[in-house]
Amino acid sequence: MAGGGSFIPERILDNAELERMVDTSDEWITVRTGIKERRIASDGETTASMGAAAAKDALDEAGIAPGEVDQIICATFTPDLSLPAAACLIQRNLGAVNASAFDLAAACSGWIYALDTAAAAIETGRARTIVVVGAETLSRVTDYQDRSSCILFGDGAGAVVLRKANPGEQAGICYTCLGADGAQWNLLQIPGGGSAKPLSKDVLDNREHYLKLRGREVYKFAVMKMQWLIRDAMSACELGVDDVAMIVPHQVNKRIIDSAVDRLGLPEEKFALNLEKYGNTSSASVPIALEEVRRDGRVKAGDIVILVAFGGGLTWASAVVKL
Ligand code: ACO
Repeated sequence: MAGGGSFIPERILDNAELERMVDTSDEWITVRTGIKERRIASDGETTASMGAAAAKDALDEAGIAPGEVDQIICATFTPDLSLPAAACLIQRNLGAVNASAFDLAAACSGWIYALDTAAAAIETGRARTIVVVGAETLSRVTDYQDRSSCILFGDGAGAVVLRKANPGEQAGICYTCLGADGAQWNLLQIPGGGSAKPLSKDVLDNREHYLKLRGREVYKFAVMKMQWLIRDAMSACELGVDDVAMIVPHQVNKRIIDSAVDRLGLPEEKFALNLEKYGNTSSASVPIALEEVRRDGRVKAGDIVILVAFGGGLTWASAVVKL
């Protein structure tokens, strides 16, 4: 990982404001999710504009010019347009004229899926420098009349630059695990506006262009999967608790993360948490949290970090990274 970056919109939507929008309370949201506020993209801010800002931040830190980038992968399920890919707009915004560009859709697991795809391209020699972006504008697919989902989501972007290691360098992606269970596709979905049910007056009237989630079922799946992913990653890389500097989980719900802390017997301070400030930003959540712990010095070069995420699909993913 040659550099990292993030972009967080300035506009804050806090629990007090949500109390005025739907029948909810700060207490309910805080106790059930741990979320206090989330960031919302302003007019003109989009998945691609936020993704490009995060990517520029990452390239600046890496000291790599946009022209040196071979590929841009943007993990998102909220691209600016259905066509073209947000990654192409990011490529244009960066002036990364030598880069191929495509989006990867695996919901909240998408950024770790993209990291795995990028690592494979670098390991096989097909690319030398890849920018891996996770960017979402969830506020534009959130139904602010549905109290069970609108309290969860926020907007933002995170990115890293992956570059082929120099001989002797130890940093890299040590392990990844990706999975999916399409039989559970309908636990999280946007029913209308795709090719199965194109946008129509009915779709709009039924609010089917918004994200629908079966929260309780996703919750049970997430509790089980988060523990399994961490155990699997530690065992595959023969890591003990002291070998792991930090676990960076998808910022889905504090209770889900707490249950992993309890059941795995790992110290809570080893979990990077920022959902109180940003809520769930789907594919942006892990790279934003990773960037935060890198920048504030909680992790440093040479440390081992475990990344874990799960989401719509259903999909899940983990990565063990030596920084
Ligand atoms: N405020 C007040 N009451 C509420 C709210 C709210 N915002 N939302 C729901 N309730 C009520 C319900 O109506 C229900 O009332 P009832 O008992 O009278 O029927 C009660 O609270 C309990 O509802 P549950 O859905 O059982 O609440 P739960 O404890 O499961 O918390 C939550 C809901 C926070 C959504 C939780 O299930 C969760 O975090 N799930 C996983 C999160 C998730 O699915 N994230 C999406 C993944 S992201 C991605 O892939 C894009």
